[in-house]
Amino acid sequence: MDVLVIGSGAREHALCRALSLDPDVERVVCAPGNAGTTAIASNVAVDVSDSDAIAALAAAEAVDLVVIGPEVPLVAGAADAVRACGIACFGPSAAAAELEGSKAFAKEIMAAADVPTAMAHICETPEEAAAALDAFGPPYVVKDDGLAAGKGVVVTDDRDAAVAHAASCGRVVIEQYLDGPEVSLFCITDGTTVVPLVPAQDFKRVGDGDSGPNTGGMGAYSPLPWAPETLVDDIVRTVVQPTVDEMHRRGTPFAGLLYAGLALTSRGLRTVEFNARFGDPETQVVLARLLTPLGGVLKAAATGHLADLSDLRWTPNAAVTVVLAAENYPDTPRTGDPIEGLDAAEAVPDAYVLHAGTRSTGGSVVSSGGRVLSVVGTGIDLAAARTAAYAAVEEISLAGSHHRSDIAEQAGSHDHMH
Ligand SMILES: Nc1ncnc2c1ncn2[C@@H]1O[C@H](COP(=O)(O)OP(=O)(O)OP(=O)(O)O)[C@@H](O)[C@H]1O
Ligand SMILES: [Mg+2]
Repeated sequence: MDVLVIGSGAREHALCRALSLDPDVERVVCAPGNAGTTAIASNVAVDVSDSDAIAALAAAEAVDLVVIGPEVPLVAGAADAVRACGIACFGPSAAAAELEGSKAFAKEIMAAADVPTAMAHICETPEEAAAALDAFGPPYVVKDDGLAAGKGVVVTDDRDAAVAHAASCGRVVIEQYLDGPEVSLFCITDGTTVVPLVPAQDFKRVGDGDSGPNTGGMGAYSPLPWAPETLVDDIVRTVVQPTVDEMHRRGTPFAGLLYAGLALTSRGLRTVEFNARFGDPETQVVLARLLTPLGGVLKAAATGHLADLSDLRWTPNAAVTVVLAAENYPDTPRTGDPIEGLDAAEAVPDAYVLHAGTRSTGGSVVSSGGRVLSVVGTGIDLAAARTAAYAAVEEISLAGSHHRSDIAEQAGSHDHMH
């Protein structure tokens, strides 16, 4: 089959890579892609916010399956537009993507499905927001209702900062603070059947020891040696399956990837958020461990046949990814600098480089975004995977770039609450 992947980040490079390794996939097209995806897919330009353009491209390329990476096209209805052309699409409808597109909607579904989550108030005015902040007390958790490219959530002890963020958002969700380590569990679903992938943990803060501002994600690892053995079953049973069932009951089935972000609190599992797509950077480590060819899995989900799929096969080996970010990221990043050492990094055993914000000019690759590369290492355990990833990172030079040096460092010990 021929597959079109929409997006241009390291997540899409990881998806293209896994699809290109699937013997049943003849051709991968990536739109718009990056300097890394050109090596394994044909890059085609597209405006990812234009659903009709995505559908037209899928028809023009005569692909058998479209995989939509980012949330913006999903919330805008790209999957509906592709399906309206009679082409299978991995990604939820606009109506179902509201689980990510509106945090208030996600809370409503969780309440209806009895899914454990933080208590929350949905506030429309500054007065309501102030009352909700005082009802919960610090630390304050203030979330923009809509999509905000990872910048919509503020967690702070500073009441003035909480009030100011609430005022800048319009409709906000103010919720109880959840303590404890976070886990991301990606589940593939066709709207009825739920197939969990392996859990991962990501690192959102820019600096070592979780210092500095939030980012799109600076690294991730899988497996989670410290997690309870029943974790995945518990999450599917209490969070994901009830959510999928509730969406189905409402006539807006969720088919695609349901990303559950969870906190393991002292009082049990709590859902922090849903996303309607593969998460970046966790996808890079989850797909690094998947042995089952990806194309067939996504096609089965897109066509309602997940129940017929055999169990997914996974390597017990570990994967770690380290994100190399441009100078000044997560603020406005410096771009246009040459990236050296990519071949040397690829030559490091058990490591490979996924591109995010890169483009080719002439014979060289230059930075073009905040998160530039996602370097993946694999190994028999997290320590080995970490060693491979950092050995590859050391080969790469990009003026002003930075990365965290502590990805997965504590994962083997008891102190995993980064
Ligand atoms: N109730 C909470 N208590 C404590 N921390 C929280 C809470 N809600 C969110 N956070 C922190 O803020 C981060 C971002 O929150 P959330 O995942 O809801 O936002 P988002 O902007 O949609 O994130 P993403 O970019 O991953 O989709 C979480 O990963 C978590 O670390
Ligand atoms: Mg989110």
